[in-house]
This record gives sequence, C-alpha cells and structure tokens, in this order.
Amino acid sequence: MPYYSIDQLKPGMILAADVADTNGRLLLSKGAAIEPKHLNIFKMWGVPEVRVQRAEGGEPEAAPVADPETMRRVAESLMPVFAKNDLNHPAVGEIFRQAVIHRSRSGRTPSEKPRADAAAGQPPTASASEMRKKIKNRDIKLPEIPTIIFKLNDTIADPFSSSDDIAQVISKSPGLAALLLRIVNSAFYGFPSRIDSISRAVTIIGSKEISALAVGITTMEIFKDIPAAVFDMQAFTHHSLACGVLARILAAGGNIRNTEQLFVSGLLHDIGRMVIFKYFPQQAGAMLLAAAEGKLCLHDAEKSVMGFRHTDIAADLFEKWKFPLSLSQSVIYHHRPAAAQDPARAAIIHLSDIIAHALGEGKSGQWYVPPLDAAAWDKLRFSPQTLATVIPQAMHHLSFLTTIFLGGSGTR
Ligand SMILES: [Fe+2]
Ligand SMILES: [Fe+2]
Repeated sequence: MPYYSIDQLKPGMILAADVADTNGRLLLSKGAAIEPKHLNIFKMWGVPEVRVQRAEGGEPEAAPVADPETMRRVAESLMPVFAKNDLNHPAVGEIFRQAVIHRSRSGRTPSEKPRADAAAGQPPTASASEMRKKIKNRDIKLPEIPTIIFKLNDTIADPFSSSDDIAQVISKSPGLAALLLRIVNSAFYGFPSRIDSISRAVTIIGSKEISALAVGITTMEIFKDIPAAVFDMQAFTHHSLACGVLARILAAGGNIRNTEQLFVSGLLHDIGRMVIFKYFPQQAGAMLLAAAEGKLCLHDAEKSVMGFRHTDIAADLFEKWKFPLSLSQSVIYHHRPAAAQDPARAAIIHLSDIIAHALGEGKSGQWYVPPLDAAAWDKLRFSPQTLATVIPQAMHHLSFLTTIFLGGSGTR
C-alpha cells in the first residue's frame, strides 16, 4: 500500500497503518477515514507521509519515488556498500529497500569505495599500546571538560536538582539556550504551545532530557574546528544528527519506553572518532588508509592500526568527563549492544547508525554499512514494517535539524 505525502492526502482516504507522532503518541488509527481536521493535526505534529489503504476521495498520484531505471542503478551501486550485511535478513532487506527509495528520491548515489592512494594520512608514529597508555595516563591530553558540561552532568546525576538550577547553567550561554529552544519548539519534540524559556522547557520536557541536550550540543561544538583536510565535519555532524533523530523516532515508533536522552546518545555515538580526528590526525589518516586498502569496516581498521576502537576512546573520555551511564553506555556499546547495561537502548543506537549509513545521510569515515547484529534486532522486537514507517518520518525531522545545526540544507 502506497505512501502519500501530507499534501497529497484527501478527505475520505482510509489509513492503512496507525499514524503516531515522534513521541509515539497515536494520532489516528489504521482503518480511520481521513477528515480535513486530521490534515492539520498531521502537519502540526510533523508527520510527513502516511500509508493509505484506499482512496474514497479519488486516487491521487502516489508519492513520486523515482523512475525504475534510477532505482535499479541505485540498488546496483548499493549492493557492495551492504557487503558486510546479510540481505536475506528481513530487517536488512527493508533497510536496503528504504535506502534505495530514499537515495533515488534525494539523488544520494553511493560514492565509489575510496582508493588507498586517495586516502590521506601517514603511518602512525606511536605504537598502539603506547598511545592507549598515554590516553589512560592522560599524557596525551584528552579535551578538558568544559565547565558547563561538568555542571550539567552533575545536574543529571542529582535527583534533587531543580529546573531553575539547570536554567541558570544553560542561560549563561545564550547561543546554547537559543539553539535548545529552537529544537524543543520544533515538531521533533512536538509540543503544541510555544516554549519560551529554558526553565519552562525543563518543566515540560524534563531536567534530564534538557541537560543531556545541552551536553550534546556543547560537546559537538568542541570538535567543530577539525580541519577539512582531516575530515569533513559538516558531513560528520550530519551523520551524528541522522543517528540521533533515527534513535529517538525508532524508539517512539517501536514503543520502547525510556526514550529520553536517546537523541543525544545518537548525536554523540561516534565521539571517539572525533577525538581521533582532532587529537590524532596522523592515526586518523592511517586508519582511513587501512580501511580503504583492505576490506575492513572502519571500526575494525581502527583496531588493526591503533589497537583500539573509537568506542574505547569514547569510554576513556566519558570516564574523564564523568558522563552519566544513561548517556554513555549506548555510545560505548553501539557496535556490540549485547554488552551494554541496557542492551535495548544500545541496540537502538546500533540500528540507527546502520540506517544512517544505508541512507547516505552524512559521513563518519565508514564506507560499508556496518553489519546488523541479528540478536540486537531480535531484542528490539520491531517488525521490518516499523522501519518503513519510521524512516521517512525521521528524514523529515532530520532536514529541519540539519538546517538549524549546520545553517543550511545539510551535507551528503
Ligand atoms: Fe561507530
Ligand atoms: Fe556512526
């Protein structure tokens, strides 16, 4: 049954699937006839498209996907990118299908696998164990925790902190407060009335969620000056945002409780790679080179070049910065969710990362779509059909968030 964008809907059409907002709240049930008031409700809650069973108000043209030749070409070029995955797995099959549709619509053809001679970088100078030891001993300086993150992490950990405490900390940084308010007033958070102050945002959305958002935004800021010669940070931020948006919307669409902070865990999931790019540019070049030369996923190339992965660096940094477990665990274990304290939350980030790569939304240095952990998928108890509903919804919100984070239409 086809998807129709909200602009294509007509009163009288019958819904073929439930429609929910980004918080997972049911807006209209499968089988209901669409009335004019529903169109406004869908727009208000940021629903980009819905599935329609039959059209009593006349059959409009289905949402344009792309011409079959474009889709065939995109599917063909995507096959090698999915080489680390089993296309016969139902979830991988659906992610592939959604990736073909999304890339065909948006013109995101997969890039050629980078050739070794095109990958920047020099061989690393320090041995892997020496480097890790230096990081552990803090001989190589990991970034110092900015005061605001220190205070916010304290607030997240303190069950007695008040909304005024948090508002006071955030309001000291007017740029951060303004960006936060834009995010919480967007359809991504989906509150019908305008939230005009941080203390009100804390009251409505919750102190942990707002503090975590502030931590996520501030942390991303620290790494934005990585030189383009090392990595394209606009593309990296785009990938990070895609993972965050997908995580929050997947969790809501899959009826997973406790979705708070998942957007921020998604936003920061590859923070270890940002540390490598910023503080170890030589090693970054060497691992990109190893991934390009071999047939390795980048996180395995990291292991072979440096002896540890970006998730290990994330663990070191989070320990140093005293990040709350609720944020750090799903980041540290996003490539092996079963090892996390809460495997379902880590599995959400794992799946979101895979989908972001499959759709070509931003870049993390990783060319292959990372392999789906089948046990993690089973743990989530999603149906592949959930992906078909959630992915277009997430992409709708992503385009707004990339605009406010990157000040443009995002990157490829
Ligand atoms: Fe990763
Ligand atoms: Fe990633």
